[in-house]
Amino acid sequence: MNSRLPLIAGNWKMFKTGPEAAAAARELAREVAGAQAVEVMIAPPFTALEAVHAALQGSAIALGAQNTHWEDSGAFTGEIAPPMLKAAGCRFVIIGHSERRQLFGEDDRGVNRKVHAVRRHGMVPVVCVGETEAQRDAGQTFSVLDKQLRLGLENIALGNPLDVVVAYEPVWAIGTGKTASDHQAQEVHDRIRRLLAELLGADLAAGVRILYGGSVKPGNVAGLMAMPDIDGALVGGASLDPQTFARIMRFRS
Ligand code: PGA
Repeated sequence: MNSRLPLIAGNWKMFKTGPEAAAAARELAREVAGAQAVEVMIAPPFTALEAVHAALQGSAIALGAQNTHWEDSGAFTGEIAPPMLKAAGCRFVIIGHSERRQLFGEDDRGVNRKVHAVRRHGMVPVVCVGETEAQRDAGQTFSVLDKQLRLGLENIALGNPLDVVVAYEPVWAIGTGKTASDHQAQEVHDRIRRLLAELLGADLAAGVRILYGGSVKPGNVAGLMAMPDIDGALVGGASLDPQTFARIMRFRS
């Protein structure tokens, strides 16, 4: 265990209407009381943000968004701007999720613009990085992550290590039921922290939370969280059911 406060984050992807998301959030708000020394965040779809924000009033659960545009406003049909997310109550914004990269053509330059935009508005970017199965098999895992982080975090000045979160999500483990082993994940997290030390300085890097994502479930979360450089989880499928997600946020018990 280290001194970083773990962050357990739920990414609800394109699931749940506003009323459904608010009901799940209310249930989670009741459950979070039993989770010790952990920060919890949920990222519902845009249309559910305000309802979930209202449902979370009085609870310690933080609200996150799944994406953002980098401009503050403008003629960008179908997009959502950082000030809108801020006004809806978001504290976190997931950036560069592998589904955005693979299905919607996002690249590291766009990720970097979004990271800057989110920081400008005082929210915390959750910057997702990860290699595909083919890249891992070709021995390119570290070089892929290196590039994603160097470009994604370019020119980011942090005053506080909690102002950015990195999520390592091997693409081959997302929604597949395949999880990286605890030690496989730790090896990559250690590497990411060393790279962060190079980019941000050792003191800041020591405090940045690095989450693991990819088929995290109640049965595997404790083993992952026992690793020295794994500071939380970004959970997709297993975050949709409040009781299952509650078991993940209570990973210590
Ligand atoms: P999963 O998704 O937990 O369903 O594998 C993780 C993610 O995409 O963030």
